[in-house]
Amino acid sequence: MNKQEYQKAVEKLNLWAYHYYVLDDPIMTDEGYDKLYHELVRYEESHPDELLANSPSQRVGDVVSEGFTKEKHLSRMWSLEDVFDAHGLEKWLQKTYRLDNSVTFYCEPKYDGASLDLLYENGELVKGITRGDGSVGELITQNVKTIRSIPLTIAHKERIEIRGEVVIFKEEFEKINKERLKKAEQLFANPRNAAAGSLRQLDPKITASRNLVFLPYGVGINSLEHKLLSDKMSYIYELGFREPPLRAITKGYDEIEAIYEQMQKERESYAMMLDGMVVKVNEISAQIDMGYTVKVPRWAVAYKFPAVEKITTLKNIILQVGRTGAVTPVAIVEPTEIEGAIIERATLHNFDEIERMDIRIGDKVIILRSGDVIPKIVKVLANERSGNEVKVERPKNCPVCGSELLQEDVLIKCQNLTCEARVVNSIIYFASKPCLNIDGLGNKIVEQLFNAELIKSVLDLFDLTMEKLLNLEGFKEKKAHNLLNAIQKAKGSELWRFINALGIEHIGEVASKMIAQAFGLEYFNAVKEELIAIDGIGDEMAESYLEFMRVNRETVQKLQVILEPVAPEKKEEAKENPFKGKTIVLTGSMSKPRPKIKEMLESLGSKVSGSVSKKTDFLIYGEDAGSKYDKAVSLGVATLTEDEMQEFLQ
Ligand code: IVH
Repeated sequence: MNKQEYQKAVEKLNLWAYHYYVLDDPIMTDEGYDKLYHELVRYEESHPDELLANSPSQRVGDVVSEGFTKEKHLSRMWSLEDVFDAHGLEKWLQKTYRLDNSVTFYCEPKYDGASLDLLYENGELVKGITRGDGSVGELITQNVKTIRSIPLTIAHKERIEIRGEVVIFKEEFEKINKERLKKAEQLFANPRNAAAGSLRQLDPKITASRNLVFLPYGVGINSLEHKLLSDKMSYIYELGFREPPLRAITKGYDEIEAIYEQMQKERESYAMMLDGMVVKVNEISAQIDMGYTVKVPRWAVAYKFPAVEKITTLKNIILQVGRTGAVTPVAIVEPTEIEGAIIERATLHNFDEIERMDIRIGDKVIILRSGDVIPKIVKVLANERSGNEVKVERPKNCPVCGSELLQEDVLIKCQNLTCEARVVNSIIYFASKPCLNIDGLGNKIVEQLFNAELIKSVLDLFDLTMEKLLNLEGFKEKKAHNLLNAIQKAKGSELWRFINALGIEHIGEVASKMIAQAFGLEYFNAVKEELIAIDGIGDEMAESYLEFMRVNRETVQKLQVILEPVAPEKKEEAKENPFKGKTIVLTGSMSKPRPKIKEMLESLGSKVSGSVSKKTDFLIYGEDAGSKYDKAVSLGVATLTEDEMQEFLQ
């Protein structure tokens, strides 16, 4: 192969891959592709300085990363407002027509996967970023390059962010789960989880093996001048991206409904999972005029498909013991497929619910799975009983430690503080995201450490050593090192994480933040009067907090010495102003995101609350203010527009 032949080979391989992965219309055999690919790799090895950026060899990520870094999106990634039926659509259309009654609508599938932002500069893919919170995501460029339907280079040379959904096709999903079943690995609950999980693998080889597919649905930063979204998208597809199985420009309600019906009928035959249809204003200038609320564009809506129900058989009810000792029943059902996901478990909430529905083992039941929620049993088909169904008794003893259970309201609880399930789950909770956020310390590892008697409580985590970990199955130096590092990183965490991690009943993330803000490192000496003086902390919470601190005094102090949590800075006293010390409620959409306005008011010494009551001093409202405004008026609370608020401040 010479230089010219090498360049030709890159072109050929890319063309074949485009036909295979984007057009679903292969023009070369796998064998033929592999043969040329190997020749190309050999040439690149001997001529590294001639390597082309769009060579297919650049898709094999061979560096395993230690973790992902955060990356800001150049423009925000928005979410979508949902409507669930024809009435919802009609209301949304009316609202939209009030803003502009001349618009048309672009309809396309709502894919069920993980959103992804691709940044191309000079025609080259330079960054792939997960959605994250919409402003900041994680940089996963290496993984993204392994996705064959994402071109490494495009003919558009100006900077552009291309946005879309990464999905796993239904067939591929089943293949992966079958293999996992064979290897006794945990099954993926649905293609969306499988896609999102595969995208965030530290080893790009795993991502590559999952055959992910990218389906674009829009652009972020761009210099395109198309007047219609439909034209903009056609241009994106021409750049080498995959088209949706159905898209259409529609005029009004009836046409939108017709496309929705068609998509819903056809979706079974589509390769990917959909959870609805997205309706977008097609005229870009109208989109710009309509703008955004705090969270979503006013010019688009997700018209969801109805949730899918299936009949299956209840095989068993198992009991799970959580960190608070609460014993919850979980239904094990005959595995059944709903919309591409294999359902084996469903929530049952509590035993009152089981009795209310009179669910018996062996019953035929209807389970419902809607979007991302855990499936639930919605109905028992009692008239299909054979007589062999078995009633389930309320348990009297803990299924894990055997000690007696007590009924507390609707919950049945294990009272044994040293119950293995409670201990293990409280350690898992301690390490979880809203607590100390210790990477790599999930269910499996905690159970393994506990079973090997390396940890009996959270304190033991800090006595783990390389030597101890290397004795465990599956732990090599790197994994052990990463875990020890992650545990060390918990030192110096924010105080609210520390308080939250203690797992005190009734004290969650929000209460932990309030306590940390109010008491700082004196959190330990708080007394009841001081606690209930905090808005949002009631009697029961205060009692629970104080009781916990009394009983666990020693452990908490030891943990504090080890972890050295950092207290938040004391807020400076605000200067005199009309809003200082006042309770304010915000409603409607405003010129800036509401959290920004809330922050500004809080810096002036106001308390911004979520609901209107007699205690509210001012309601500040923006566009489309609804029930809060009505309530404020009926209670005689002073109301101000956003502009009036600004005038007030000057
Ligand atoms: S547009 C400016 N279009 O749904 C509007 N989103 O529920 C931003 N999604 O985060 C989104 N298919 O990940 C849009 N055809 C489609 C979509 C789509 C799936 C996802 C996307 C977004 C989420 C919002």
